[in-house]
Amino acid sequence: MSRKILVLPGDGIGQEIVAEAVKVLNRLREGFGLDAELEQGLIGGAAYDAHGEPLPGVTLEQARGSDAILLGAVGGPRYDTLERHLRPERGLLGIRAALELFGNLRPAILYPQLAASSALKPDVVAGLDIMIVRELTGGIYFGEPRGERVLENGERQGFNTLVYRESEIERIGRLAFDTARKRGGRLCSVDKANVLEVSELWREVMDRLAADYPDVELSHMYVDNAAMQLVRAPKQFDVMVTGNLFGDILSDCAAMLTGSIGMLPSASLDSQGCGMYEPVHGSAPDIAGQDKANPLATILSVAMLLRYSLGEGALADRVEAAVGRVLDDGLRTPDIHSEDTRLVGTAAMGDAVVARLND
Ligand code: NAD
Ligand code: IPM
Ligand code: MN
Repeated sequence: MSRKILVLPGDGIGQEIVAEAVKVLNRLREGFGLDAELEQGLIGGAAYDAHGEPLPGVTLEQARGSDAILLGAVGGPRYDTLERHLRPERGLLGIRAALELFGNLRPAILYPQLAASSALKPDVVAGLDIMIVRELTGGIYFGEPRGERVLENGERQGFNTLVYRESEIERIGRLAFDTARKRGGRLCSVDKANVLEVSELWREVMDRLAADYPDVELSHMYVDNAAMQLVRAPKQFDVMVTGNLFGDILSDCAAMLTGSIGMLPSASLDSQGCGMYEPVHGSAPDIAGQDKANPLATILSVAMLLRYSLGEGALADRVEAAVGRVLDDGLRTPDIHSEDTRLVGTAAMGDAVVARLND
């Protein structure tokens, strides 16, 4: 039976980069035996414009009936003044929560061709291959109570709550240990246990799980130090596991090690292997509609989709190899462009990857 992939382009450059990823999927269907149907849907500002809400029921229904979801990005200045529950970002958080996509894998890999594009010295990043495992449906993003109140002296106070249950820590911990076991066997858990009770519990649960994974070497690091170490000596890390907010920040930081945030894909998984795949970056309103966005993070997210949700490892390898060849050919969108390389736009980059799928 044909598998169904729901395509949710979203807003800003989401539309442009997803169009390129869809070209890749269509070529795999036509030329390489990928048995999958694509269906389009609305999320974020695009859904608000059409239905008055960022995550319409029909989108959730489509998502529940799919084997995998490919998402572009959501958000934009036009929507920033809407009431909070109508904002595009709420649509994204809503679909993650509704589908229980708790496990967010964010690989930061330096393609050797891009060593010169990294913000760091080539020898600091050469061969970089880190996997950040970010908890995605809990923590301060979802904790209650949250909101705003007026204090006795009339001053306004905003508040959010950082909470994790043992079971939430355990399931992200197991995903991280399993991931480390299949890679270099080293797991660094990142927290703020010197200050936060919730981090003390996080650390305790990780230590407890370690007994089930004698082949994985577990270490702990405070998040402030981890941010510094990522920039100082990133290759010390194999797999990092952390909570929702810390993972959001550390993965943008890791993105720059690879040359551009336009290179970082991600997978958000539930416990059954259903997943949503999206670039780590946002809707980039500053370059939207100008054929400048790098589509490679989204195309690499297609590779993750093929590997994790459709069991098509060989096709995933093919997509990743095509990206490598296009970089070998010297093609670069503006974010990774340097001397001696050829500047191309979003669509030309997508076309080049499609052409290189054949090799
Ligand atoms: P952003 O990631 O959209 O952009 C940050 C910078 O990186 C910008 O200068 C942008 O031009 C550049 N950039 C991002 N992706 C790029 C690509 N593929 N190619 C080349 N350059 C790229 O982050 P922001 O500016 O903080 O947020 C903009 C909007 O996106 C906000 O509404 C925010 O809420 C939303 N956002 C959405 C997601 C998501 O949908 N997953 C993620 C982050 C931010
Ligand atoms: C990301 C984004 C989202 C997050 C926002 C847009 C809700 O920054 O996917 O990294 O904070 O998770
Ligand atoms: Mn982010």
